[in-house]
Amino acid sequence: STRTPLMAGNWKMNLDHHQATHLVQKLAWTLGDAKHDYTGVEVVVAPSFTNLRSVQTLVDADRLGIRYASQDVSAHASGAYTGEVSASQLAKLGVTYAIIGHSERRQFHAEDDAVVNAKSKAALGEGIVPLVCVGEGLDVRQAGEQVPYTLAQVDGAFDGISADDAATIVVAYEPVWAIGTGEVATPEDAQEVCAAIRVRLSELYSPEVAGAVRVLYGGSVKSGNVAAIMAKPDVDGALVGGASLDADEFAAIVRYQQ
Ligand code: G3H
Repeated sequence: STRTPLMAGNWKMNLDHHQATHLVQKLAWTLGDAKHDYTGVEVVVAPSFTNLRSVQTLVDADRLGIRYASQDVSAHASGAYTGEVSASQLAKLGVTYAIIGHSERRQFHAEDDAVVNAKSKAALGEGIVPLVCVGEGLDVRQAGEQVPYTLAQVDGAFDGISADDAATIVVAYEPVWAIGTGEVATPEDAQEVCAAIRVRLSELYSPEVAGAVRVLYGGSVKSGNVAAIMAKPDVDGALVGGASLDADEFAAIVRYQQ
C-alpha cells in the first residue's frame, strides 16, 4: 500500500521531563546508528502533557525526525475547564497527533464514543491528527462480537467528520485484553478487525478514504512479535505501551523490516 507505516510509543503516566528527553535522545541516537529512514517508517512518541515542552525543545534543536503526540486532548476550545488541555495549546507545542479514546480513558474517565468524537473534532480544528483508539474487552471477544463492537466505536468516532479530515485520521485497534497483559493478539486476530475497520471506512466514506487511513494494532507489541503483525495487509503500524519505554526495544520495533 502507499500508507507509511507508523510506530507510536505511548508512554502513559511514566517518566518525568528529564527522563522523557533522555529517552527521545537515546531513541534518536539508536535509530541514527541504524541509519533509520524516517520517510520509510514514521516514529511517534506520546509523553505526558508536562513533558511535551521539553520534548519539543529537544526535537526542534536537534532536528530529530521524531514526531510527538499528546495522550489526550480536551473537547473544549478554552475557558473554565480546570485540568483540561486544549487542542490549540497542544498545537502551539508542535504536537502532531493526539491519542483519543484510549481504553484507559474510556475505562477510568468514562469517555464514550460521543466524547471521542468531540475530542477528535477539537483536534482536527487545530490541525492535530486524532489517533483514535478502539477495541473490545475480554467479554466481548469471548462472545465473538469483536467486529461489530469495534465498528460501533468507529462509527461513533467518525460521526460528522468530513471525508478530507477522515482520510488523515489514524485508528488504533487495541483489544483491551491484550493491553499490558503480555497476551498479544494473533496476527490473524489483528488483521480480522483492522480489515473490518477499513471496510467500514469505505462504506462510511469511500475506498479512497479507507485506503488512506492508517490502522494500527496495539496490545503487548514487542520486537519479537511486531514483524508477523506488520505482515498483515491491513495493519499499518503499532501503538506500543510498555515496550516503548526502552529505547533499544522501541527502536527494534521501528526497524521491524530489518
Ligand atoms: O497504547 C498502548 C497500548 O495500551 C498497549 O500497551 O504495549 O503495554 O500492551 P502495551
